[in-house]
Amino acid sequence: MKTIALFNPIRDDLERVERKMRQAIQTEHEQLTEVLQYLLANGGKRIRPALVLLSSRFHPADEDKVMALAAAVEILHTATLVHDDLIDGSLLRRGKPTLNTFWGPGATVLTGDYLFSQAASLAADTQNIRVVTIFSHTLAIICWGELRQLFSEGTNQLTRENYYRRISSKTASLFATSAEAGAVLSNAPEEETQALRDYGHNLGMAFQIIDDVLDFIGDEAQMGKPAGSDLQRGIVTLPTLHFLSQGNDPETVLQVLNGAQRDETTVRAAVDAICASGAIEAAVAEAHRFSQCAQEALQVLPANQHRRILFDLADFIIQRDY
Ligand code: IPE
Ligand code: IPE
Ligand code: MG
Ligand code: MG
Repeated sequence: MKTIALFNPIRDDLERVERKMRQAIQTEHEQLTEVLQYLLANGGKRIRPALVLLSSRFHPADEDKVMALAAAVEILHTATLVHDDLIDGSLLRRGKPTLNTFWGPGATVLTGDYLFSQAASLAADTQNIRVVTIFSHTLAIICWGELRQLFSEGTNQLTRENYYRRISSKTASLFATSAEAGAVLSNAPEEETQALRDYGHNLGMAFQIIDDVLDFIGDEAQMGKPAGSDLQRGIVTLPTLHFLSQGNDPETVLQVLNGAQRDETTVRAAVDAICASGAIEAAVAEAHRFSQCAQEALQVLPANQHRRILFDLADFIIQRDY
């Protein structure tokens, strides 16, 4: 698992979340349990559960409920990745083969569904109706974002507005919910709860922009997933939008986007053209602005170690290479 050093002060709590998740995935179906264990054993950075933990730390909270919610958001995240990799046809995740490489689509979909059910059940363990409501609402928004992406592949939706709405739905929504729900469980004043939601949203936006940048310039071994695949699949992200709005010769890039040419050489040429155009730097600058907005949102919170980690996390998000 590739962890983040910044989270060291909450390492024990994150370990408790791992245990909670391991309990939640026990089933009577041997093959299903095996595959769920595989998914958990090859965990990711655990940013979303860390957001729940940290956001709940500004006021006293029921620890069991916080743990349940932290496990719920990570299991929800895992479920969306299982489905996302199937939809994207991705073969590698966290340096390991994706489920869809060794299971059929039916079993992969059902595994994702099962994870969704366990996430919902853990969210219900908080016995907090507001938390359950935002949780279920978020799931709908993520689906909607993935659908939006599916239907905007190619050249028909080349607007920044479309891009922002897409990433806000598919990624920033869960970041916002993790932070908001953590605050709700600690009965934080409404102003702080909204500030944490705002923080989570902006952090998530910066996070997905960098994910999209890494898809152009990242290293496969470091990221544990292949680079260069968004363009190849006709998915328009911020670097591409910058490239197209800067008066560059769009021919090669458009050919890849509209599906006329998707061979390796043409995709490589399109990626190189985008990387050489300054579009990457422009996209990173935008991620930087979201990260700063996230940090500004933290100002209404009491200054303590947890606020510091959240602040530093916003820096990490844009500097990361995995
Ligand atoms: C990957 O999220 C999916 C996106 C929203 C881009 P993470 O990079 O947080 O995934 P893991 O959990 O660390 O693998
Ligand atoms: C994130 O988008 C998917 C979800 C939030 C469900 P990506 O498709 O960019 O994520 P990666 O690059 O596969 O991790
Ligand atoms: Mg994907
Ligand atoms: Mg990506």
